[in-house]
Amino acid sequence: MSAPKIEIDSLWLPKASSTLAGQVDTAWNWAMANAVVFFFIVMIPLGYFMVKYKKKSDADVTSTLAHSTLIETVWTVIPTVVVMALFFVGLWPYLSAAVPPKDAFEVQVTAQKWAWTFTYPNGTVSPGKLVVPQGRPVKLVMSSTDVIHSFFVPEFRIKQDVVPGMYTTMWFEAKDVEETAVLCTEYCGTGHSEMLATVQVLAAPAFDQWLEAGDDKNLPPAEKGKALYGQWACGSCHPIDGTRGVGPSLKGLYGRNEELTDGSSVKADENYLRESILVSTAKVVKGFAPVMPAFQGQIKDAQVDALIAYIKALQ
Ligand code: CUA
Repeated sequence: MSAPKIEIDSLWLPKASSTLAGQVDTAWNWAMANAVVFFFIVMIPLGYFMVKYKKKSDADVTSTLAHSTLIETVWTVIPTVVVMALFFVGLWPYLSAAVPPKDAFEVQVTAQKWAWTFTYPNGTVSPGKLVVPQGRPVKLVMSSTDVIHSFFVPEFRIKQDVVPGMYTTMWFEAKDVEETAVLCTEYCGTGHSEMLATVQVLAAPAFDQWLEAGDDKNLPPAEKGKALYGQWACGSCHPIDGTRGVGPSLKGLYGRNEELTDGSSVKADENYLRESILVSTAKVVKGFAPVMPAFQGQIKDAQVDALIAYIKALQ
């Protein structure tokens, strides 16, 4: 797929593109400013005292430390005030992030090794691309089908674990019409670094239109399949250039006789390809591990057809 872009135009924080981002950055800047100020408050006297009290002869002995109520009070009270202030500076964005507005538009997020899928209230399924309206709160209800992943959109300053067997939620409101990147930020296996998706923010009318029509631009099936191959991140396991990946290469696969782990063999026809997508570990090619996630229930028939058409075209 066209890889989602993360523009590194600054060594500081990325662009702040959600309504929440400003609050998060304020908290971060306060914590950073405190760290910098106290670094110098501690390090400058430390350096000074190292020189001033350097041992100069064997006659130098450490003086007895006397108790100072004043100093101890100062270095207890000031940090307590600073830490409490930082707590409240952090609590503000935390509360904003924790409670989604009541009228938020809901999208279901499914994580699996190694792709993100987004399901809309009207049944639209969008693999690898979260399309959202600009200026409207969006609530994500997230779950994983296998291991723990974590949904992270740097520009929105939102990050949340996505866990099998339970739902986690998160919300944001995008400020600009743009595209930005989703990263998985919980190590989830060999494809972790490839587990990317795109957030596409559309102006409200364009979003409504997209939701009605989806991405279906009446492409030929093989073209549609190629796009799905990218969106589902099939390529993180299945190369298309004949080299060996975590799974078999798809080049020239259609019509080939494949030897299976149980010693039997099978011709890679339409039915075999369909079964291998839906119930992925039913027939595993010899020499490969049965690690592919099953797509049954997550993929529409028309999408299976498109993927098969694409595989057939890879001769
Ligand atoms: Cu999914 Cu890392």
